[in-house]
Amino acid sequence: MKKIDIFDTTLRDGEQSPGANLTIQEKLIIAKQLEKLNVDIIEAGFPISSPGSFEAVKLISKEVKGPVICALARSLKKDIDSAVDALKDAKRKRIHVFIATSQIHMDHKLRKSKDEVKKMAYDGVKYAKQFVDDIEFSPEDASRTNMDYMCEVIEAAISAGATTINIPDTVGYAQPDEYGDRIKHVLENVSNIKGIKISTHCHDDLGLSVANSLAAIKNGAVQVEGTINGIGERAGNTALEEVIMALKTRNEYYDAYTNIDTKELFKTSQLISKLSGMAVQRNKAIIGRNAFAHEAGIHQHGVIANKSTYEIMSPADIGWTGENIVIGKLSGKHAAKEALKNAGIDLNDEQLEQVSNKIKDLADKKKDVNTDDIVAIGIDVLNKLSEEEDVIKLDELTIVTGNRTTPTATVGLVIDGEKKVSTGIGVGPVNAATNAIKSIVGPTMNLKEYSLKAVTGGTDALANVAIKVEDDKGNIFASEAVDEDVIMASVKAILKGANKAMIYKKKKENGNN
Ligand code: KIV
Ligand code: ZN
Repeated sequence: MKKIDIFDTTLRDGEQSPGANLTIQEKLIIAKQLEKLNVDIIEAGFPISSPGSFEAVKLISKEVKGPVICALARSLKKDIDSAVDALKDAKRKRIHVFIATSQIHMDHKLRKSKDEVKKMAYDGVKYAKQFVDDIEFSPEDASRTNMDYMCEVIEAAISAGATTINIPDTVGYAQPDEYGDRIKHVLENVSNIKGIKISTHCHDDLGLSVANSLAAIKNGAVQVEGTINGIGERAGNTALEEVIMALKTRNEYYDAYTNIDTKELFKTSQLISKLSGMAVQRNKAIIGRNAFAHEAGIHQHGVIANKSTYEIMSPADIGWTGENIVIGKLSGKHAAKEALKNAGIDLNDEQLEQVSNKIKDLADKKKDVNTDDIVAIGIDVLNKLSEEEDVIKLDELTIVTGNRTTPTATVGLVIDGEKKVSTGIGVGPVNAATNAIKSIVGPTMNLKEYSLKAVTGGTDALANVAIKVEDDKGNIFASEAVDEDVIMASVKAILKGANKAMIYKKKKENGNN
């Protein structure tokens, strides 16, 4: 059986999802969880693209020693220099050099001839090779590139030192047979391909990214790129959990396997969903909450008699135990630490103290506190803004609502030490509070998305509010907050988002972003 390398680009291509805005610390937490999942390569970022991305690659290179750490670079010296610099502390490193090769990209984006692009590909790889031995090369928009020309560019990249060749279906245009044929064609027609790894990188615009990646494996690819939960640009990237479980469940059909610890999949998916603010649909294959739920009577009967009647995988294979352990008020810090560790969240002592204090508070008000509550509180503490980020602070909030009154909110904020109060009305209390906040913080904040979820069942459940705010330049900032009170959770989340937007603006003005 051939081994398939799993190349995770959640922190690079995944983070390009509109609205998924991860902090550097959040990226490190995800990278550590990807290490537990045992992915082969983590593409940690695109260092030249922003100081935040550079810092994330640098930090992950320092702290995560299992997988190869990869940084993306255009076929340009300045990009490669930045990648080399960011990867300095990595134990095993890779530079991923790319340049677009389709006619449409060369004409309209690069404004360069075929010969110029081929030379740039060669020069870029050659330059990167001086610093790092493990070089991946991607002809961007490969699936819309003339086949002969694509093979010529690949040949040039290999002669310059590329060790992995990735074939991106950048716009999700390819069909499985066609994409599989392209992989086969490269393997059969590029003269120096022997010993070089072929990789897939598919986008999901036509909902075919997983099918295309599997077709590529059937035709000789030995590396799959993708993201957990399939997050990414537009319709997203290949959902790695689907490829991994297809290879595990049908390993004989593919004659292939991965080294992934599949029991870490559910945990990884939940962590990324919570930190990126991108919910996983209930019926999502493999990691959706309904993926192993059997509703129809005839199915339930079959599953009770013998699980394999309607289950081709076991929930335990992906680490879904269904348990939601009740934690009492007296269970304390240790139980909280265990529950958080199991969810992939490592907190320091001070943060754990904050979590256990919040649990005690919550247990005074709510019948049962369980694992989901603790994870929600843990992420809330983890995402607490630092002192210098917390520019806009809530001082007071009064809400008046009812069936015979217009919902009205009075909000008092302290911004940079100065108190400001405003009143807003709205169609409901959350809308009224949002309007009051907006009238204070102004055009830096525009609420784009709002979602409210009860962490567990019951009217006393913790409320988890995830929001996205947009600043006046169109940048999106995601944030989340939990509270026993729905309106407080909403206000906290909105203020967190507004704080992120304000900090970003300040950094930008100071030239740090
Ligand atoms: O989709 C794409 O083409 C990419 C490349 C940078 C590999 O993400
Ligand atoms: Zn991509």
